[in-house]
Amino acid sequence: MVKRFRFGRPIETEAVVNEAGILGGRVGASVQDIPGFLKVTAGTGMEEGSTVIYEMGERDAIYGLGENVRGINKRGWLYESNCTDDCIHTESKHSLYAAHNFFLVDGRERFAIFVDAPQKIVFDMGFQERSRLAVKIAPGGFVLYILEGDDLRGIVREFRRMIGKSYLAPKWAFGYGQSRWGYQNEEDIREVVRQHRENGVPLDSVYLDIDYMEQYKDFTVDGERFPEFPAFVKEMRQQGIHLVPIIDAGVKIEEGYPVYEEGLENGYFCKKADGTEFVGGVWPGRVHFPDVLNEKARRWFGLKYQVLLEQGIDGFWNDMNEPALFYAEEYLKEAFGKLADYQKQELNIHSFFAMKEMLLGVSNRPEDYQTFYHDYQGEKICHDQVHNLYGYGMTRAAGEAFDELKPEQRILLFSRASYVGMHRYGGVWMGDNCSWWSHLLMNLQMLPGLNMCGFLYTGADLGGFGEDATEDLLLRWLGLGIFTPLMRNHSAMGTRMQEFYRFGHVDDFRNIIGLRYVFLPYLYSEFMKAAMRDDMMFLPLAFVYPEDEMAAGVEDQLMVGESMMIAPVYRQNARGRYVYLPEEMKLYRMRSGEDWDEEMLPAGHHYVPAELNEVLVFVRPDHVVVLSSGGGCVEKVDTSRLDLLHFVKTEAVYEWYEDDGYQKKVNLEAGITRIVVKSDKSVRAEGARKIECRLV
Ligand code: NOJ
Repeated sequence: MVKRFRFGRPIETEAVVNEAGILGGRVGASVQDIPGFLKVTAGTGMEEGSTVIYEMGERDAIYGLGENVRGINKRGWLYESNCTDDCIHTESKHSLYAAHNFFLVDGRERFAIFVDAPQKIVFDMGFQERSRLAVKIAPGGFVLYILEGDDLRGIVREFRRMIGKSYLAPKWAFGYGQSRWGYQNEEDIREVVRQHRENGVPLDSVYLDIDYMEQYKDFTVDGERFPEFPAFVKEMRQQGIHLVPIIDAGVKIEEGYPVYEEGLENGYFCKKADGTEFVGGVWPGRVHFPDVLNEKARRWFGLKYQVLLEQGIDGFWNDMNEPALFYAEEYLKEAFGKLADYQKQELNIHSFFAMKEMLLGVSNRPEDYQTFYHDYQGEKICHDQVHNLYGYGMTRAAGEAFDELKPEQRILLFSRASYVGMHRYGGVWMGDNCSWWSHLLMNLQMLPGLNMCGFLYTGADLGGFGEDATEDLLLRWLGLGIFTPLMRNHSAMGTRMQEFYRFGHVDDFRNIIGLRYVFLPYLYSEFMKAAMRDDMMFLPLAFVYPEDEMAAGVEDQLMVGESMMIAPVYRQNARGRYVYLPEEMKLYRMRSGEDWDEEMLPAGHHYVPAELNEVLVFVRPDHVVVLSSGGGCVEKVDTSRLDLLHFVKTEAVYEWYEDDGYQKKVNLEAGITRIVVKSDKSVRAEGARKIECRLV
């Protein structure tokens, strides 16, 4: 059951698109209908914020909030929805790049809350007071949705039904991608591809970071570094590689640059109170921000992607769209002025700290976000009121344009910043993590929360973006990454290079990355079913084993789709790890698609060895996992013959979905083949495809 309550004059975010079944109509239910266990104090307007309070039971767990720091169970910390470009994702942080205002409470009561409001929101999950959950919404209207139900997964499905179907990535985007901020030219990229092909390590894509552009200008390609771009794109396609360029939010201010000139002429950039364009500083230097919340400007910006589509590009990543502000020009002037003043000051510890604080606060200053405006649904709205919608708007711009320009073909698209609703247009990557073991675990912990908000196409920078990666860390991270829809090795300029061939054990990389292609039939099928059925692909154990108290405490294992559980190793020098099995399972210690050990394990706690070249997969009773024999890229994976990992006591029925991988229109049921395995080892496959299945 879903109830909707509107407070004040909320800004329409278009997060919720299916109203059917929501009690409360357009204007909202009356406050008396708010369930007794919640207390809502609603501010009256722009001056006062509002609060939703819940007194938690001793054992209540909280799940959700999408992309954020800390564990799967969010209880005990204070989180914020305030999309921020912050590249140090430590436990002390409250917010990353996203605003995913949805969470579930599981305990005395079982319910979920979605706060639909683009302004800043604070989620105090027992931080000030251990047993008090308090959601504080900054001044402005908001819509509160309360979802109740018996089953956590069912509540999520209901929410997902409300917010609309998730974005579908093309199948090739489930292949391995190599990326690096700093690949300079065609030669650098050819070398990446050559190394993968010559060493027999699969690869489907190479990402182009800002270096491919001419002076970081969106929708341009540097003619010296990429003299024949369309021919180069073709050359790569012939080798089975898709090039995926980055697009940044800020448009360089430069006379003669058509994107800048058109935007200016049509008034498509965000403006200050005096009507002049706001100037920020990001990679290209001085930029204007396209007003992607304004329908016309959004369409204009989106159609710009065509220039790259026409050159053979079929995938993009949208970056810096919180939007990140290295500085706002006006404040930078002020800051330099203050520095000049400091020169007149006595040099002492006080002036030192004052200067330091000022300099450290120049980027992403909340006050600067209050100085520009959007033309949103016919109203002039201050950016800080709609801040969390910007990345959504930018990605929507591209997504809507692709629907217009490529109505049939799926285009790869993912973004750094996001809000609920953006999941209909693209996926997200988890931003600038670091080459830290703790971040491997944190990225695993983000997956279920992201799935709850519809972000199914997601993944982290494997090996870590900032800081120096080591071979063992990369191998272990790949051990998680082979299961995430987006599987990309990406790192920052200035850090140690971390393509697999920078390290010694090529065989290990070939086998682990190769496993992704072995699991592809299962992973793609689970992704598509989750997308079409509004379901999750990565689930906390508590969602599948709600009666098992021990399962609720597991923070480092995940269920992946219907049939299996994963338990990646995320500790330096570990040669195995402890796992908890809520039921009997069959363990596969996989080294490749042909080489593994298997063992039946009873329910309970176990120590399981896992060397650096091994990945742990646990198959549930009466389930199977469909595997291919691998391939050098997605196109080469043969799905007419499937191998089945199996743990069958009586009967397993697996619904295997498969399609051509690029059509936007999907008929799930028509693409399903039912694979039935009986305890006598008989196998039957019926439905969409004629396939050969083999128990292995
Ligand atoms: C920030 C992004 O998060 C990162 O992935 C990218 O490499 C840099 N910007 C440079 O474009």
